[in-house]
Amino acid sequence: MKGRFIAFEGCEGAGKSTQMRLLSEYLTSRGIPHILTREPGGGQISEAIRKIILDGKNSEMTDECEALLYAAARAQHLSDTVVPALERGDTVLCDRYIFSSFAYQGYGRGLPLSFLKEINAFAVEGHMPDATLFLDIPSSRAFERKHGADPDDRMEQAGEAFHRRVYEGYKALLQEYPDRLFAIDCSGTKYETSARIAEFLRGRGLIG
Ligand code: TYD
Repeated sequence: MKGRFIAFEGCEGAGKSTQMRLLSEYLTSRGIPHILTREPGGGQISEAIRKIILDGKNSEMTDECEALLYAAARAQHLSDTVVPALERGDTVLCDRYIFSSFAYQGYGRGLPLSFLKEINAFAVEGHMPDATLFLDIPSSRAFERKHGADPDDRMEQAGEAFHRRVYEGYKALLQEYPDRLFAIDCSGTKYETSARIAEFLRGRGLIG
């Protein structure tokens, strides 16, 4: 693969989309070809799966079904969007990836991590980001920034205790994957965070 693969993680409202947009502007200013994409989604079939997963009406969905749908959307998104972009030599900026499944379905829902590792290994066939950035702000502050949970979003409706477990889950994952998952301090302004991200990626030789 010629391109660089960079994923962003964080709790709801951590500012991933803003930071991805700012990084995209930076890459454009340096003439670095790139795409912005997201999970679940980023392609026709995976966006259709996204609708099913997030639909507030699907309250009967089992945790197992949810985990498999996220993995299914990931497999399709890789094949439709991510791998072709990496092969072209584009940098891929992806809003969420495999660690979301570990944090939300594993630590949040309480599914065994061994099961999540297995289904996701099958889904991604070895395609792992060069770096995954965890935008570190606690779930409670993130929700404040978002002005509360969206009533039509099944995941946002999962409750405060769930989202606290997700945040703690990311903290545990940072310990488990120190060479894959990196925390970015988001306590300053969005421009300070953006500068930290660019500095981190430049330091690892991932952006010019
Ligand atoms: P996202 O669009 O990033 O939501 P937000 O911008 O509000 O953070 O992600 C959609 C939801 O899906 C979000 O609640 C996190 C959840 N999710 C999982 O639970 N597991 C996964 O593997 C992925 C990719 C997302």
